[in-house]
Amino acid sequence: MRILSGFQPSGTLHLGNYFGAMLPNLEFQKLGESYLFIADYHALTTSPDPEALRQRVFDVALDFLACGLDVNHTVFFRQSDVPEVTELMWILNTITTVGFLERAHSYKDKIAKGFMPNAGLFTYPVLMAADILLYQSDLVPVGKDQKQHLEITRDLAIRFNERYGEVFTVPDGHIAENVAVIPGLDGQKMSKSYNNTIPLFGAPKAIRKLVMSIVTDSKGLEDVKEPETCNVAKLYKLIASGEQYNELCRNYRAGNYGYGHAKQALFEAIQAYFGPMQAKRDEFAKDPGEVWNILNKGAERARNTAAATMEKVRRAVGLR
Ligand code: TYM
Repeated sequence: MRILSGFQPSGTLHLGNYFGAMLPNLEFQKLGESYLFIADYHALTTSPDPEALRQRVFDVALDFLACGLDVNHTVFFRQSDVPEVTELMWILNTITTVGFLERAHSYKDKIAKGFMPNAGLFTYPVLMAADILLYQSDLVPVGKDQKQHLEITRDLAIRFNERYGEVFTVPDGHIAENVAVIPGLDGQKMSKSYNNTIPLFGAPKAIRKLVMSIVTDSKGLEDVKEPETCNVAKLYKLIASGEQYNELCRNYRAGNYGYGHAKQALFEAIQAYFGPMQAKRDEFAKDPGEVWNILNKGAERARNTAAATMEKVRRAVGLR
């Protein structure tokens, strides 16, 4: 079974990335042949500064290595090191209707938030489909926000196979059960483009400041509070143990427990969880050459798989 997923280098990774997709992917890497890549072509849709983009690719690589990516089990690479994916995207574009892409939620959300859409943002789901189909992936663990993109991918794979013969594996998505879309500081989906993230790594003071800025309702210290609808409690549930979370719920329901207390508990849980990984990250950061080496080796393996698929695709559509 081949398991694949991608992460945009929009900055250092955050709690939404980690609990929505990184952790499930790292768990899956033991069960099959795992492919993980850093989606730098996708990141270009937001026009980052070139030097910042290079740095962010490196940062995401460090984040993954710190969080337990095992290069013996996972083909870890940079998306743009396998440019065949853009060729496949072009071919998939020719079987994709414009109306189909106009219905994509993430595109509509960005427009609604006032982003100036470029054509890359519009065809973003087709590049994502190309990522998945190029490597003949069976299973794609992603966060809930990517569900529709996976449906588009399945649809394109089926459409292509019906028109040109069985070339692609039709992938299944895997969305971590009981992990919803993880809220950011303001309660919307945690996302770098909404500037509401809590990064996995960083100076404790800066992380604490972010945690203290999480939006809550205006209940006072003595009021009874609802864990189910509170952003602080939702994040705490992901990161703390079951017993710690139950204690927070009891405190919320008893009153005389303020949001400041809950935020401090959340901050401490984040430190306890990611502290040991930060030390590992610092170790990898001392040897950038080795990090690039890991990505280059991964790219070599990914290119072999990509070449085999593209040969089939070109023949199927009449380009050979
Ligand atoms: P990206 O870079 O936005 O996020 C990477 C992964 O993290 C998950 N995630 C979340 N899950 C729950 N709550 C959140 N607030 C949250 N924020 C991020 C995402 O669901 C994702 O799994 N288009 C993809 C990258 C991509 C890809 C692919 C993924 C490109 N090609 C092929 C899988 C397969 C994206 O922008 O994810």
